[in-house]
Amino acid sequence: MSLIPKAELHLHIEGTLEPELAFTLAERNGVELPYDGIEDLRRAHLFSDLESFLDLYHAMTAVLRTADDFTELADAYLVRAAAQGVRHAEISFDPQAHMERGVPLGTVVEGLAHALDRAEERHGVSTRLIMCFLRDRSAESAMEVLEAAKPYLHHITGVGLDSAEAGHPPSKFREVYAAAGSLGLRKVAHAGEEGPPGYVREALDVLGVERIDHGLRSLEDPELVDRLAREHIPLTLCPLSNVRLRAVDTLEEHPLRAMMDAGLLVTVNSDDPAYFAGYVGDTFHAVREALGLTQEQLRELARNSFRAAFLDQDEARRERCLAEVADYDFDRE
Ligand code: ADE
Ligand code: ZN
Repeated sequence: MSLIPKAELHLHIEGTLEPELAFTLAERNGVELPYDGIEDLRRAHLFSDLESFLDLYHAMTAVLRTADDFTELADAYLVRAAAQGVRHAEISFDPQAHMERGVPLGTVVEGLAHALDRAEERHGVSTRLIMCFLRDRSAESAMEVLEAAKPYLHHITGVGLDSAEAGHPPSKFREVYAAAGSLGLRKVAHAGEEGPPGYVREALDVLGVERIDHGLRSLEDPELVDRLAREHIPLTLCPLSNVRLRAVDTLEEHPLRAMMDAGLLVTVNSDDPAYFAGYVGDTFHAVREALGLTQEQLRELARNSFRAAFLDQDEARRERCLAEVADYDFDRE
Protein backbone atom coordinates (compact mmCIF):
# COMPACT_ATOMS: atom_id res chain seq x y z
CA MET A 1 0.00 0.00 0.00
CA SER A 2 1.22 3.52 -0.74
CA LEU A 3 0.69 6.11 1.96
CA ILE A 4 1.59 9.12 -0.14
CA PRO A 5 -0.92 11.91 0.68
CA LYS A 6 -3.61 11.92 -1.99
CA ALA A 7 -7.12 13.03 -2.88
CA GLU A 8 -9.66 10.47 -4.01
CA LEU A 9 -11.90 12.01 -6.66
CA HIS A 10 -13.71 9.02 -8.15
CA LEU A 11 -15.38 6.90 -5.52
CA HIS A 12 -18.93 5.57 -5.36
CA ILE A 13 -19.98 5.26 -1.74
CA GLU A 14 -22.24 2.34 -2.66
CA GLY A 15 -19.12 0.66 -4.04
CA THR A 16 -17.49 0.71 -0.60
CA LEU A 17 -20.07 -1.68 0.87
CA GLU A 18 -17.89 -4.51 2.18
CA PRO A 19 -19.55 -7.94 2.50
CA GLU A 20 -19.21 -7.86 6.31
CA LEU A 21 -21.16 -4.58 6.61
CA ALA A 22 -23.66 -5.78 3.98
CA PHE A 23 -24.56 -8.81 6.09
CA THR A 24 -24.71 -6.73 9.29
CA LEU A 25 -27.10 -4.24 7.67
CA ALA A 26 -29.13 -7.03 6.02
CA GLU A 27 -29.74 -8.63 9.40
CA ARG A 28 -30.54 -5.31 11.08
CA ASN A 29 -33.02 -4.35 8.35
CA GLY A 30 -34.54 -7.79 7.79
CA VAL A 31 -33.28 -7.97 4.20
CA GLU A 32 -32.57 -11.41 2.75
CA LEU A 33 -29.41 -11.57 0.64
CA PRO A 34 -29.20 -14.32 -1.99
CA TYR A 35 -25.73 -15.39 -0.73
CA ASP A 36 -24.76 -18.04 1.72
CA GLY A 37 -22.44 -15.85 3.79
CA ILE A 38 -19.52 -13.49 3.24
CA GLU A 39 -17.29 -15.87 1.28
CA ASP A 40 -20.12 -16.82 -1.04
CA LEU A 41 -20.74 -13.11 -1.73
CA ARG A 42 -17.03 -12.50 -2.32
CA ARG A 43 -17.06 -15.31 -4.89
CA ALA A 44 -19.70 -13.31 -6.78
CA HIS A 45 -17.16 -10.48 -7.23
CA LEU A 46 -16.15 -11.85 -10.62
CA PHE A 47 -17.33 -9.63 -13.43
CA SER A 48 -17.38 -9.93 -17.19
CA ASP A 49 -18.08 -6.27 -17.89
CA LEU A 50 -19.60 -3.08 -16.44
CA GLU A 51 -23.18 -4.38 -16.68
CA SER A 52 -22.48 -7.56 -14.76
CA PHE A 53 -20.90 -5.50 -11.99
CA LEU A 54 -23.76 -2.99 -11.89
CA ASP A 55 -26.26 -5.83 -11.41
CA LEU A 56 -24.59 -6.89 -8.15
CA TYR A 57 -23.79 -3.32 -7.06
CA HIS A 58 -27.46 -2.32 -7.33
CA ALA A 59 -28.76 -5.54 -5.78
CA MET A 60 -26.59 -4.97 -2.70
CA THR A 61 -27.93 -1.47 -2.10
CA ALA A 62 -31.11 -3.20 -0.81
CA VAL A 63 -29.48 -3.40 2.64
CA LEU A 64 -29.17 0.41 2.95
CA ARG A 65 -32.38 1.75 4.45
CA THR A 66 -31.89 4.31 7.22
CA ALA A 67 -29.84 7.48 7.60
CA ASP A 68 -27.70 5.60 10.15
CA ASP A 69 -26.91 2.95 7.52
CA PHE A 70 -25.55 5.63 5.19
CA THR A 71 -23.59 7.23 8.02
CA GLU A 72 -22.07 3.87 8.93
CA LEU A 73 -21.20 3.15 5.29
CA ALA A 74 -19.46 6.51 4.87
CA ASP A 75 -17.66 6.25 8.22
CA ALA A 76 -16.32 2.83 7.29
CA TYR A 77 -14.98 4.21 4.00
CA LEU A 78 -13.40 7.24 5.68
CA VAL A 79 -11.56 5.09 8.22
CA ARG A 80 -10.10 2.97 5.43
CA ALA A 81 -9.33 5.97 3.23
CA ALA A 82 -7.52 7.81 6.02
CA ALA A 83 -5.43 4.69 6.67
CA GLN A 84 -4.42 4.72 2.98
CA GLY A 85 -3.14 8.30 2.91
CA VAL A 86 -6.32 10.02 1.68
CA ARG A 87 -6.49 13.66 2.82
CA HIS A 88 -9.45 14.72 0.68
CA ALA A 89 -12.31 12.63 -0.75
CA GLU A 90 -14.96 13.59 -3.30
CA ILE A 91 -17.64 11.01 -2.76
CA SER A 92 -20.28 10.12 -5.33
CA PHE A 93 -23.65 8.62 -4.55
CA ASP A 94 -26.55 7.35 -6.67
CA PRO A 95 -29.80 8.86 -5.34
CA GLN A 96 -32.04 7.07 -7.85
CA ALA A 97 -30.75 3.68 -6.69
CA HIS A 98 -32.23 4.47 -3.28
CA MET A 99 -35.26 6.57 -4.16
CA GLU A 100 -36.51 3.80 -6.47
CA ARG A 101 -36.50 1.51 -3.41
CA GLY A 102 -38.54 3.99 -1.40
CA VAL A 103 -35.64 5.54 0.54
CA PRO A 104 -36.12 9.33 0.53
CA LEU A 105 -33.33 11.51 -0.83
CA GLY A 106 -33.14 13.36 2.50
CA THR A 107 -32.38 10.10 4.34
CA VAL A 108 -29.49 9.38 1.97
CA VAL A 109 -27.99 12.87 1.89
CA GLU A 110 -28.36 13.59 5.60
CA GLY A 111 -27.02 10.15 6.52
CA LEU A 112 -23.93 10.64 4.34
CA ALA A 113 -23.47 14.28 5.36
CA HIS A 114 -23.48 13.32 9.04
CA ALA A 115 -20.33 11.26 8.46
CA LEU A 116 -18.76 13.70 5.99
CA ASP A 117 -19.24 16.78 8.16
CA ARG A 118 -17.10 15.32 10.96
CA ALA A 119 -14.57 13.57 8.71
CA GLU A 120 -11.93 16.28 8.81
CA GLU A 121 -11.96 16.35 12.60
CA ARG A 122 -12.19 12.57 13.06
CA HIS A 123 -10.13 11.26 10.18
CA GLY A 124 -8.17 14.23 8.83
CA VAL A 125 -10.07 13.90 5.54
CA SER A 126 -11.86 16.87 3.97
CA THR A 127 -14.82 15.84 1.83
CA ARG A 128 -17.20 16.84 -0.95
CA LEU A 129 -20.39 15.10 -2.05
CA ILE A 130 -21.20 14.50 -5.73
CA MET A 131 -24.73 13.50 -6.69
CA CYS A 132 -24.74 11.19 -9.73
CA PHE A 133 -27.57 10.64 -12.16
CA LEU A 134 -28.06 7.10 -13.48
CA ARG A 135 -27.60 7.55 -17.23
CA ASP A 136 -29.69 4.47 -18.08
CA ARG A 137 -32.71 6.19 -16.52
CA SER A 138 -34.56 9.02 -18.26
CA ALA A 139 -33.51 12.67 -18.38
CA GLU A 140 -36.85 13.48 -16.71
CA SER A 141 -35.97 11.25 -13.78
CA ALA A 142 -32.62 13.06 -13.43
CA MET A 143 -34.41 16.41 -13.44
CA GLU A 144 -36.78 15.16 -10.71
CA VAL A 145 -33.80 14.17 -8.59
CA LEU A 146 -32.21 17.60 -9.05
CA GLU A 147 -35.48 19.21 -8.01
CA ALA A 148 -35.76 16.94 -4.95
CA ALA A 149 -32.17 17.85 -4.00
CA LYS A 150 -32.88 21.57 -3.66
CA PRO A 151 -33.38 21.46 0.14
CA TYR A 152 -30.02 19.65 0.51
CA LEU A 153 -27.78 21.63 -1.82
CA HIS A 154 -25.70 22.93 1.08
CA HIS A 155 -24.38 19.36 1.40
CA ILE A 156 -23.77 18.81 -2.33
CA THR A 157 -20.83 20.20 -4.31
CA GLY A 158 -21.49 18.77 -7.74
CA VAL A 159 -23.32 16.44 -10.06
CA GLY A 160 -22.05 13.40 -11.95
CA LEU A 161 -23.28 10.84 -14.45
CA ASP A 162 -22.73 7.11 -14.01
CA SER A 163 -24.09 3.59 -14.64
CA ALA A 164 -24.30 1.75 -17.99
CA GLU A 165 -22.67 4.02 -20.55
CA ALA A 166 -23.23 2.44 -23.97
CA GLY A 167 -26.27 3.90 -25.70
CA HIS A 168 -26.67 6.68 -23.12
CA PRO A 169 -24.70 9.66 -24.43
CA PRO A 170 -24.05 12.70 -22.26
CA SER A 171 -26.19 14.87 -24.53
CA LYS A 172 -29.28 13.10 -23.13
CA PHE A 173 -28.65 15.12 -19.94
CA ARG A 174 -28.07 18.55 -21.50
CA GLU A 175 -30.96 20.25 -19.69
CA VAL A 176 -30.34 18.78 -16.27
CA TYR A 177 -26.65 19.76 -16.40
CA ALA A 178 -27.59 23.28 -17.46
CA ALA A 179 -30.00 23.45 -14.51
CA ALA A 180 -27.36 22.06 -12.14
CA GLY A 181 -24.91 24.71 -13.36
CA SER A 182 -27.48 27.43 -12.70
CA LEU A 183 -27.74 26.16 -9.13
CA GLY A 184 -23.99 26.63 -8.69
CA LEU A 185 -23.14 22.92 -8.77
CA ARG A 186 -19.82 21.67 -10.18
CA LYS A 187 -20.04 19.17 -13.02
CA VAL A 188 -18.32 15.86 -13.74
CA ALA A 189 -19.41 12.82 -15.78
CA HIS A 190 -18.28 9.28 -16.48
CA ALA A 191 -17.31 9.14 -20.15
CA GLY A 192 -15.08 6.91 -22.25
CA GLU A 193 -15.21 4.02 -19.78
CA GLU A 194 -17.03 1.75 -22.21
CA GLY A 195 -18.45 4.50 -24.44
CA PRO A 196 -16.61 6.04 -27.43
CA PRO A 197 -14.36 9.13 -27.41
CA GLY A 198 -17.30 11.13 -28.79
CA TYR A 199 -18.97 10.76 -25.38
CA VAL A 200 -15.96 12.47 -23.78
CA ARG A 201 -16.32 15.36 -26.24
CA GLU A 202 -20.04 15.60 -25.52
CA ALA A 203 -19.46 15.62 -21.76
CA LEU A 204 -17.11 18.59 -22.27
CA ASP A 205 -18.99 20.48 -24.96
CA VAL A 206 -22.63 19.74 -24.21
CA LEU A 207 -22.60 19.24 -20.43
CA GLY A 208 -19.70 21.57 -19.65
CA VAL A 209 -18.02 19.18 -17.22
CA GLU A 210 -14.78 20.16 -15.48
CA ARG A 211 -13.48 16.62 -15.03
CA ILE A 212 -13.98 13.35 -16.84
CA ASP A 213 -14.45 10.17 -14.81
CA HIS A 214 -12.41 7.44 -16.53
CA GLY A 215 -11.91 8.89 -20.03
CA LEU A 216 -9.89 5.81 -20.97
CA ARG A 217 -11.18 5.52 -24.52
CA SER A 218 -10.08 9.10 -25.26
CA LEU A 219 -6.86 7.44 -26.37
CA GLU A 220 -8.60 6.28 -29.55
CA ASP A 221 -8.82 9.91 -30.68
CA PRO A 222 -5.44 11.72 -30.87
CA GLU A 223 -7.07 15.13 -31.39
CA LEU A 224 -9.10 14.65 -28.24
CA VAL A 225 -5.96 13.64 -26.34
CA ASP A 226 -4.26 16.85 -27.50
CA ARG A 227 -7.21 18.89 -26.36
CA LEU A 228 -7.44 17.20 -22.94
CA ALA A 229 -3.75 17.85 -22.42
CA ARG A 230 -3.88 21.45 -23.68
CA GLU A 231 -6.91 22.32 -21.54
CA HIS A 232 -5.60 20.44 -18.47
CA ILE A 233 -8.83 18.51 -18.13
CA PRO A 234 -8.47 16.02 -15.30
CA LEU A 235 -9.24 12.36 -15.95
CA THR A 236 -10.08 10.33 -12.85
CA LEU A 237 -8.70 6.92 -13.80
CA CYS A 238 -9.54 3.73 -11.90
CA PRO A 239 -7.02 1.11 -13.03
CA LEU A 240 -8.18 -1.77 -10.79
CA SER A 241 -11.76 -1.17 -11.90
CA ASN A 242 -10.66 -1.25 -15.56
CA VAL A 243 -9.05 -4.65 -15.05
CA ARG A 244 -11.95 -6.12 -13.06
CA LEU A 245 -14.52 -4.87 -15.59
CA ARG A 246 -12.33 -6.02 -18.49
CA ALA A 247 -11.74 -2.63 -20.10
CA VAL A 248 -8.07 -3.68 -20.10
CA ASP A 249 -6.74 -7.24 -19.90
CA THR A 250 -4.09 -6.76 -17.23
CA LEU A 251 -2.80 -3.97 -15.03
CA GLU A 252 0.56 -4.23 -16.82
CA GLU A 253 -1.23 -3.21 -20.03
CA HIS A 254 -3.05 -0.26 -18.47
CA PRO A 255 -2.35 2.98 -20.40
CA LEU A 256 -1.97 5.13 -17.24
CA ARG A 257 1.74 5.64 -17.82
CA ALA A 258 1.28 6.38 -21.52
CA MET A 259 -1.38 8.92 -20.59
CA MET A 260 1.01 10.64 -18.18
CA ASP A 261 3.66 10.67 -20.89
CA ALA A 262 1.14 12.26 -23.27
CA GLY A 263 0.84 15.18 -20.84
CA LEU A 264 -2.64 14.30 -19.56
CA LEU A 265 -3.69 15.37 -16.10
CA VAL A 266 -4.55 11.92 -14.77
CA THR A 267 -5.43 10.87 -11.25
CA VAL A 268 -5.64 7.40 -9.70
CA ASN A 269 -8.78 6.36 -7.84
CA SER A 270 -10.57 3.26 -6.59
CA ASP A 271 -14.11 3.58 -8.06
CA ASP A 272 -15.77 0.72 -6.11
CA PRO A 273 -13.08 -0.59 -3.78
CA ALA A 274 -15.20 -3.19 -1.96
CA TYR A 275 -15.76 -4.92 -5.30
CA PHE A 276 -12.41 -4.42 -7.03
CA ALA A 277 -10.08 -5.60 -4.28
CA GLY A 278 -8.28 -2.38 -3.48
CA TYR A 279 -8.66 1.02 -1.86
CA VAL A 280 -6.77 3.93 -3.35
CA GLY A 281 -3.50 3.39 -1.44
CA ASP A 282 -3.54 -0.22 -2.65
CA THR A 283 -4.19 1.07 -6.17
CA PHE A 284 -1.19 3.44 -6.07
CA HIS A 285 0.97 0.51 -4.95
CA ALA A 286 -0.42 -1.83 -7.60
CA VAL A 287 0.17 0.59 -10.50
CA ARG A 288 3.63 1.38 -9.22
CA GLU A 289 4.52 -2.32 -9.29
CA ALA A 290 2.73 -3.19 -12.54
CA LEU A 291 3.89 -0.18 -14.57
CA GLY A 292 7.24 0.47 -12.91
CA LEU A 293 6.35 4.03 -11.95
CA THR A 294 9.09 6.14 -10.41
CA GLN A 295 8.75 7.98 -7.11
CA GLU A 296 8.50 11.22 -9.07
CA GLN A 297 5.63 9.80 -11.14
CA LEU A 298 3.79 8.79 -7.95
CA ARG A 299 4.34 12.30 -6.65
CA GLU A 300 2.91 13.66 -9.90
CA LEU A 301 -0.22 11.51 -9.52
CA ALA A 302 -0.66 12.71 -5.94
CA ARG A 303 -0.14 16.36 -6.95
CA ASN A 304 -2.62 15.96 -9.79
CA SER A 305 -5.24 14.66 -7.38
CA PHE A 306 -5.10 17.82 -5.26
CA ARG A 307 -4.92 20.09 -8.31
CA ALA A 308 -8.02 18.48 -9.80
CA ALA A 309 -9.95 18.54 -6.50
CA PHE A 310 -12.84 20.90 -5.85
CA LEU A 311 -10.81 22.70 -3.19
CA ASP A 312 -11.32 26.21 -4.55
CA GLN A 313 -13.05 27.21 -1.30
CA ASP A 314 -10.06 26.01 0.67
CA GLU A 315 -6.88 26.84 -1.24
CA ALA A 316 -4.93 26.77 2.01
CA ARG A 317 -5.79 23.08 2.42
CA ARG A 318 -4.78 22.37 -1.18
CA GLU A 319 -1.42 24.06 -0.60
CA ARG A 320 -0.84 22.16 2.66
CA CYS A 321 -1.60 18.87 0.94
CA LEU A 322 0.71 19.72 -1.98
CA ALA A 323 3.46 20.58 0.49
CA GLU A 324 2.93 17.20 2.19
CA VAL A 325 3.32 15.48 -1.18
CA ALA A 326 6.57 17.35 -1.82
CA ASP A 327 7.92 16.31 1.60
CA TYR A 328 6.73 12.70 1.44
CA ASP A 329 9.43 10.20 2.31
CA PHE A 330 9.05 6.98 0.27
CA ASP A 331 11.41 5.19 2.65
CA ARG A 332 8.45 4.96 5.07
CA GLU A 333 6.71 2.48 2.79
N1 ADE B 1 -21.29 3.06 -10.78
C1 ADE B 1 -20.43 2.54 -9.90
N2 ADE B 1 -19.27 2.26 -10.50
C2 ADE B 1 -19.39 2.62 -11.80
C3 ADE B 1 -18.55 2.58 -12.92
N3 ADE B 1 -17.31 2.10 -12.86
N4 ADE B 1 -19.03 3.01 -14.10
C4 ADE B 1 -20.27 3.46 -14.19
N5 ADE B 1 -21.11 3.52 -13.17
C5 ADE B 1 -20.67 3.10 -11.97
ZN1 ZN C 1 -17.18 5.26 -11.40
